[in-house]
Amino acid sequence: MQHLQAAARAHTNIALIKYWGKKDQNLILPMNSSLSLTLDKFYTDTFVEYLPNLHGDIFFLNGKQKVDPKIKIFMNLIRQVTGLNVYAQIKSTNHVPTAAGLASSASAYAALSLAATAAAGKIYSKTELSRIARRGSGSATRSVFGNFVEWVAGNDDQSSYARPVKIMNDWDIRMVAIVVDSRPKKISSRSGMQTVVETSPFYHSWVKTANEDLKNIKKALKNGSFETFGTIAESNALKMHALNLSASPHFNYFEPQSLVAMNAVEDMRTQGVQCYYTMDAGPNVKVICKNKDLDVILEQLHRYFPSDHLFVAAPGPGVELLNN
Ligand code: ADP
Ligand code: DP6
Repeated sequence: MQHLQAAARAHTNIALIKYWGKKDQNLILPMNSSLSLTLDKFYTDTFVEYLPNLHGDIFFLNGKQKVDPKIKIFMNLIRQVTGLNVYAQIKSTNHVPTAAGLASSASAYAALSLAATAAAGKIYSKTELSRIARRGSGSATRSVFGNFVEWVAGNDDQSSYARPVKIMNDWDIRMVAIVVDSRPKKISSRSGMQTVVETSPFYHSWVKTANEDLKNIKKALKNGSFETFGTIAESNALKMHALNLSASPHFNYFEPQSLVAMNAVEDMRTQGVQCYYTMDAGPNVKVICKNKDLDVILEQLHRYFPSDHLFVAAPGPGVELLNN
């Protein structure tokens, strides 16, 4: 009998134009298109094996058995898509802190999409895989591809998918993740963004401005203006965080050290170093820069943060099968 098993690796991605709100919670259709960079440093490895004697899916994360309702819903979708009606044992390892704003759900569901479909004997195109991954976690749709990636918002299941964005510059980009706190956040991305959609008086303006930011950042990626690129990314992240401050009840993901990191980046800029920050649903700050400026940036950041809290990432690859 065919071995119904497969393993896959997917890298995390950090959005430069954020996804922060859904127009369809079941299909996970975003309110606006987004753009991200897949990172080589952080990833998830997931092994899936379908076992005919199981009475439910079993999920292990980092060696510990977990009950996660999202896994059950997602594996039911995989069974519907592949036509294989068998439960699975899933073993996943995060080489990234879980639920800390470093995009573990993105690498997690991209890896699970490929491993679970390949184990069922099905091979899908990357575009199809990105649609499947989207149903696990929105940001996972982008981790199917490497480097710069756009998630086209679309209006239905078919039209909402990720695609690679061609770069025409020689920036040799890097992202420094400043890990301020690697513990799980109190408010998940899923619930934070929903609160904002339902209650922020500024939500309508966010969608408009995010679409403009996307158009302009894609132009900057093409014509090579790193300053424009970084400025748009930084202000887009701050607009996302401003939504959280304007929600009811209001909430935020900042910690004192997040502000120290942001101010350090702004100070470096006034000294002529080209660097910009972004921050997701968690207190950890990521600094966007060119490889040539990395040494001076790390030296400055070391004044505030120990070196084992600083992780340098380069553009990473899309999801791939592992030999198991
Ligand atoms: P993050 O900033 O890490 O993406 P989220 O709140 O968006 O935080 O997502 C974290 C959630 O993603 C976890 O609570 C869990 O449900 C899911 N998750 C994280 N890692 C894995 C994994 N390796 N396999 C399956 N699900 C995972
Ligand atoms: C701030 O993709 O984790 O990182 O679709 O509900 O699973 P769900 O949310 P998720 O949210 C990511 C939010 C973000 C911005 C982004 O990655 O675009």
